[in-house]
Amino acid sequence: MSNLGMQIQFIARIFVHMRDFGGQLLKWYDVNKREMPWRQNQNPYSVWLSEIILQQTRVAQGTPYFLRFLAQYPTVKDLALAPEDEVLKLWQGLGYYSRARNMRLAAQRIVAQFDGVFPKTQKELQELPGVGPYTASAIASICFDQVTAVVDGNVFRVLARYFDIHQPINQPQGIKLFQELAQSLISSHAPGTYNQAIMEFGSLQCTPRNPNCRSCPLVDGCLSFANKTVEQLPVKIKAKPARNRYLHYLVPLDKQQNTLLSRRESGDIWEGLYQFPLIEAGHALNEKELKRHVALPQWALRARWTAYNDKAIIHRLSHQVLHAHFWIIEDFEQSMPHSWDLVRSKGVPRLIERFLQKFGR
Ligand code: ADE
Repeated sequence: MSNLGMQIQFIARIFVHMRDFGGQLLKWYDVNKREMPWRQNQNPYSVWLSEIILQQTRVAQGTPYFLRFLAQYPTVKDLALAPEDEVLKLWQGLGYYSRARNMRLAAQRIVAQFDGVFPKTQKELQELPGVGPYTASAIASICFDQVTAVVDGNVFRVLARYFDIHQPINQPQGIKLFQELAQSLISSHAPGTYNQAIMEFGSLQCTPRNPNCRSCPLVDGCLSFANKTVEQLPVKIKAKPARNRYLHYLVPLDKQQNTLLSRRESGDIWEGLYQFPLIEAGHALNEKELKRHVALPQWALRARWTAYNDKAIIHRLSHQVLHAHFWIIEDFEQSMPHSWDLVRSKGVPRLIERFLQKFGR
């Protein structure tokens, strides 16, 4: 362990001793924990699913996805056998589709390599596709009582405040420091409960804005409360400005009202999802510019174009801002292969889903 890590452990031990940080957290959790469908047992398959979903969405939004997914694929074997398209359709709206693709691949690995039985250690779990240190620790501690601390956004916040730590939480040095601190604090007799307690405490009590310090059971030991720095913590280095992307979707409607959809093979965030023909550019293109574009399909050249939206539809992702325009294209000779029923049965990016909800056919 590094010098810094040893110092942290030492300080943390003194604190734990004096204030019984973990004991207080566990007591708080016992009274305040929310009933959640994935807290009913220690089944690693459902805990895994819940942890993946909760990484990208709040409990209220994620719960229906969790229940639908488990109903459709009750066991890891069912997920391993599912077609990718079907899994992506079920995931539609949650975003981060690579997580769904990886879950299916990991399920296949668990069936092929471990006979359908989840590995039990953080190290082995982390070798599965899409399972990072956080998810591996969550599964190993909650399902198999392994003493391995989770560090998610809630944990960063709670620890940064309790110990008044101003190291940025999105830099390697800070991440390491918080991981070591978290590991030195975890309860060895109830690691899974402790991990859930600290995360729950972050979501309900020590919230990003307006934390409830007045009725906080840890306030006496909280250094940032004493130093009046609660509102400044945790510290994050400002991310690079988001990249702007300009997406022009061409939505053909042939004489039978059929259209054209294709599967993205791109290796990017939307791999495996379906989309209308797309022209992407570094800035917004008007009709004239689109018609001259090298990527314009032949059928779109002699046709009637109608702008579906005048102002760009803006969709924000973590590191990108998408500016989307949809063009409805009609009165051309060629027939298109896809019905709108088929369109609705496929997994599509959220942007296209929103378009489809309004542009009912
Ligand atoms: N956030 C993500 N996973 C959680 C869990 N198991 N308990 C509380 N909050 C969480």
